[in-house]
Amino acid sequence: MSQGLRLVLFGPPGAGKGTQAQLLKDWLKVPHISSGDLFRHHLRQGTPLGLEAKGYMNKGELVPDSVTIDIVLDKVLSISDDEGFILDGFPRNPHQANELEKALVGNSRNVDKVVHIHVSQPELLRRLGGRLVCRGCQAPSSLGEGEDIGSKKCSQCGGELYQREDDNPEAVKRRIEIYREETEPVLGFYRERGVLVDIPGDNTVDEVNKQVISAIAP
Ligand code: AP5
Ligand code: MG
Repeated sequence: MSQGLRLVLFGPPGAGKGTQAQLLKDWLKVPHISSGDLFRHHLRQGTPLGLEAKGYMNKGELVPDSVTIDIVLDKVLSISDDEGFILDGFPRNPHQANELEKALVGNSRNVDKVVHIHVSQPELLRRLGGRLVCRGCQAPSSLGEGEDIGSKKCSQCGGELYQREDDNPEAVKRRIEIYREETEPVLGFYRERGVLVDIPGDNTVDEVNKQVISAIAP
């Protein structure tokens, strides 16, 4: 169902955008495009773009639009018109939202739905403090009680898990500040276009997933 949906998952660091995208991509049969994952891929490959992005990411700052917009829009426009996508982490300021709209309108239609997952600050801090990410498929997860990072493997692909460098307390604080200052204004952009749905995100992964699915159901 909903094949071809053009969905933006929106929310602060730790809201569960990546977690929900993992659950939705097979169900919707659309590709997941995460701007943060794109940068981390370049970083692992040691490309000049990855090295440039690293300095900003590790401090919790946004990577400049001059770098970000081209790499994300290239990816979005490489997808065929009727395929759809789940965008996670982009757009992150009003300029990025405008550029995405220009690129999509030139090609057929705009974003169909923006799901804003809102989560309280103490819960964001708790989640990011315990988040692990797969080196292989980049799926996020957390350590359960009694588990240790050395023996736990990715539940999606069995890959090795690691902690993101930008999940240290200082970078997390800055990422949340930047979200409030630069990213939240994008909500007004999509509210005006009538495609924004707000859902509460403090609940369990499964409960949030049910809410996301009902928000995007036709
Ligand atoms: P990015 O990778 O996009 O990071 P982010 O937006 O800060 O979001 P996170 O990935 O930290 O959180 P998430 O919402 O995906 O949560 P997750 O599902 O992992 O960006 C990183 C950096 O790249 C930026 O700071 C910037 O420098 C740069 N960048 C990226 N895009 C850019 C752009 N457009 N412009 C400029 N710069 C850009 O979940 C978090 C944890 O919580 C996990 O452990 C998970 O298991 C757990 N969890 C999830 N849901 C639940 C739940 N319901 N209950 C309990 N635990 C949960
Ligand atoms: Mg993420």
